[in-house]
Amino acid sequence: MTAEELKKKYLDFFKRKGHIVIPSAPLIPEHDPSVLFTTAGMHPLVPYLLGQEHPAGKRLVNVQKSFRTDDIDDVGDPWHNTFFEMLGNWSLGDYWKKEAIEWSFEFLIKELRLDQNRIYVTVFGGDHKVPGVEADEETILIWKKLGIPENKIYRLGKKDNWWGPVGQTGPCGPDTEMFYDTGVPEHGDLCRPGETCGKYAEIWNDVFMEFNKTADGKYEPLKQKNVDTGMGVERTTAVLQGKDNVYATELFGPIMKEIKKLAKNWEVRRARIIADHLRAATFLIADGVTPSNVERGYVLRRLIRRAIRFARLVGIEKDFTTDVASVVIDTYQQDWPEVGRNKEKIFAELHQEETKFKKTLTEGIKRFEKLGAAISGREAFDLYQSYGFPLELTIELAKEKGKKVDIEGFNKEFEKHQEISRSGAEQRFAGGLIDHSDKTIRGHTATHLLHQALREVLGDYVHQTGSNITPERIRFDFSHPERLTPEQIKKVEDIVNQKIKEDLVVKREMMSLDEAKKSGAIGLFEGKYADKVSVYSIGSFSKEICGGSHVERTSQIGKFKIIKEEALGAGQRRIRAVLEQFLKRLFT
Ligand code: ALA
Repeated sequence: MTAEELKKKYLDFFKRKGHIVIPSAPLIPEHDPSVLFTTAGMHPLVPYLLGQEHPAGKRLVNVQKSFRTDDIDDVGDPWHNTFFEMLGNWSLGDYWKKEAIEWSFEFLIKELRLDQNRIYVTVFGGDHKVPGVEADEETILIWKKLGIPENKIYRLGKKDNWWGPVGQTGPCGPDTEMFYDTGVPEHGDLCRPGETCGKYAEIWNDVFMEFNKTADGKYEPLKQKNVDTGMGVERTTAVLQGKDNVYATELFGPIMKEIKKLAKNWEVRRARIIADHLRAATFLIADGVTPSNVERGYVLRRLIRRAIRFARLVGIEKDFTTDVASVVIDTYQQDWPEVGRNKEKIFAELHQEETKFKKTLTEGIKRFEKLGAAISGREAFDLYQSYGFPLELTIELAKEKGKKVDIEGFNKEFEKHQEISRSGAEQRFAGGLIDHSDKTIRGHTATHLLHQALREVLGDYVHQTGSNITPERIRFDFSHPERLTPEQIKKVEDIVNQKIKEDLVVKREMMSLDEAKKSGAIGLFEGKYADKVSVYSIGSFSKEICGGSHVERTSQIGKFKIIKEEALGAGQRRIRAVLEQFLKRLFT
């Protein structure tokens, strides 16, 4: 089945269920200045979800252009895109959970003829962050009645199974997500629906929007109970075609082919990033965004420049963005006439941005040529900061010229920079801030244990290059040249859990940087430090210079689980982990 057929089937199916087809809104929200982009089909429908009467009635369906930056770091993997097409059906105070889920299931099994045995679902399992809202037992019962067995129903918290609001306030509610087992095992048992290990493709989300989040953080019942669903066209098309990634479908095939034609050093992840970013850039320009240093324009600029940098890395020398955009336009102009209509503008903006950035690139290369045979971390970082050179590009250039790069030094500089200079737009691009909730603090102490455990298992040269902790998950980046084996992952995990079990005391001491160094504390020793630094030790196991907050004893952390281990550019790896309370499986 093609994407075209999928879209038609979807609209027809819901028309038969009494829905009216409404047009897609633009990628720039028309009535909502608080949000940069339209991220979902429900976004333009907010007033109607709040209770206003929609001119087309209570049952709506459409294909919505959507754009999200939250997942930008994951682009290049099998399933994540920045821009995507979303199929959605809505009940505005009309049908509720039973119909919504039954129709989702009917569509998947009867219309798309997917294998029922490969379907997994996640359901809201309650979370203290939404006080007063219980686990969604009603939805669990409906799934069971439809024949989804208990062991394929996962009860998860707010992060996985709560959707909305867009921005700070507005309609939101618990959801149930549908996953398809692609049969591609990546990390075996380390992988579950809801974690993007690549094995389970999330294809559809039914949101039960019965709450309104208020400015003071309360969840109040809405006037009406709404259903908001979203099915990813790219992912579902891939699944229907038996593909294990979205780039293997006709939606990306010609774009990837064009990149392959131009690339002298083909590398699939980099090619995917180029394809994703230029496809998104094409749609953004068509909807009126132009590259700049602020807000939407900044996001667009980052996309285009990132595509150009990755193009260098796959050996594309000539101007290429308009060639790729031209294929994007050919692929999409029938369904989305605006990309065809704005062809000249798209070409002009891309060309201008490419010319501008290439000039900086050329100047950066001139600077690079002047550097000695051993490029220091500071120099590599200057290339990154002043000329937008990713480390990978510097390494690539160095290789050609027989030079060496201090990767570890670069990582240290990078980490320092990340800590001191996060601008507003950067934060938006990265998808939000870390809070100081209990869960985040627990995750933070867990990263200290993880850091030391990695050093024990892999070697003392391992050091942290970044981390991002939310109440729901831990992301930890570190220097290491190769993939960890399942044994190593297990060992690291076991050590962390052992240290948690030992209920070690977490102690904070203030001392001078010199004293900290002498005491064997790990951490960054260059850069600006106050007279005294704070050093956290966990029993006699770990000692780290750190400014953050921590738990008092390790037993407060809960069980630690590694979900994924992956590459993060040259010489760096990323571990994604969760704490036990966020990984509760239903009925086990
Ligand atoms: N608004 C929901 C989503 O984007 C359906 O997943």
